[in-house]
Amino acid sequence: MKKTVFITRQLPDEAVAPLRERFDVDMWGSEDEPVPRDVLLEKAETAHALWTVISEEVDRELFGRAKNLEIVANMAVGYNNIDTEAAKEHGVAVTNTPGVLTETTADLAFTLMLAAARRTGQAEKALRAGEWKSWTPMGFTGQDIFGATLGIIGMGRIGEGVARRARGFDMDVFYHNRTRKPEAESMHGFRYSGLDDLLRRSDFIVVLTPLTDETRGLIGARELGLMKETAVLVNAARGGIIDEEALYDALRSGQIWAAGLDVFEEEPIGLEHPLLELPNVTALPHIGSASIKTRLAMMKLNAETITDCLEGRQPANRVV
Ligand code: NAP
Ligand code: GLV
Repeated sequence: MKKTVFITRQLPDEAVAPLRERFDVDMWGSEDEPVPRDVLLEKAETAHALWTVISEEVDRELFGRAKNLEIVANMAVGYNNIDTEAAKEHGVAVTNTPGVLTETTADLAFTLMLAAARRTGQAEKALRAGEWKSWTPMGFTGQDIFGATLGIIGMGRIGEGVARRARGFDMDVFYHNRTRKPEAESMHGFRYSGLDDLLRRSDFIVVLTPLTDETRGLIGARELGLMKETAVLVNAARGGIIDEEALYDALRSGQIWAAGLDVFEEEPIGLEHPLLELPNVTALPHIGSASIKTRLAMMKLNAETITDCLEGRQPANRVV
């Protein structure tokens, strides 16, 4: 009998073909509608492998019911949607997709810096609404990126990618991690900073930590209060790291200048969410890694780890 793989989202044939040759593959039939929770639980009861995306909650209840499960392969580098403690207790491997999405996500984080600082979303919306009457001396004026100071919170793979891009814009780069990175400091001149100092001195602040118990709410009212009135804050990591209510207050009152957000506490964000009322918010629907090449590379990694695990080899990129 072949082992079974359940894929929680419709993926391109070319990504799934290598698995079909070896296993019984069952796939949720929609690319944009998440698999309902009861279907996920039912499929997990018999599956040997689950290939998940970040909207699936892979929790203790699921691991408790998944009697055959050997691996959960998450199509993301972040894996805060998976209860890794429960996975460990049930002896299930969990893998993610680091590295292949680093540069694509760094591009997107930089896009958000540029778009929020130069108000490109607002300006395009005005043009399309027929509001462009003439060249205006102070119309849509924003903040300069070139030569500004950048603070990166979470200087990992993607954070370093953003920092490297910033050198081309002649930016002064500071970073904050729990551990220092001497190589990044000596090779590129990036400077380590305590969190509060980074918040005070930066013109641009980019958040790129994972969402963990430690980083949830890392940027709240106190931290926003330390930022410059001209600061642009970007979150390309996970919703929940920045307190959205505090962010709304800070943007509305002019405590900070603008925000660029690819991620939200609740995804998809509701259209009635207060942050979407603010003109100084540039909002994107969690598309950090969304280039064709990168998404296919992520899928290839997932398919390889599932194959290795189900055939008794050690899968790469295990987080548990
Ligand atoms: P990574 O290489 O593991 O980098 C994460 C960095 O965060 C590490 O340098 C880590 O350094 C730092 N960090 C962890 N906890 C921290 C804390 N409490 N305070 C300060 N720094 C902390 O991961 P990555 O590949 O760059 O990805 C980062 C995150 O981006 C992912 O976890 C994911 O959630 C998010 N992401 C989003 C998208 C998107 O579509 N928007 C795409 C890809 C990734 P220390 O351990 O030394 O603190
Ligand atoms: C996307 O959000 C990822 O973590 O890869």
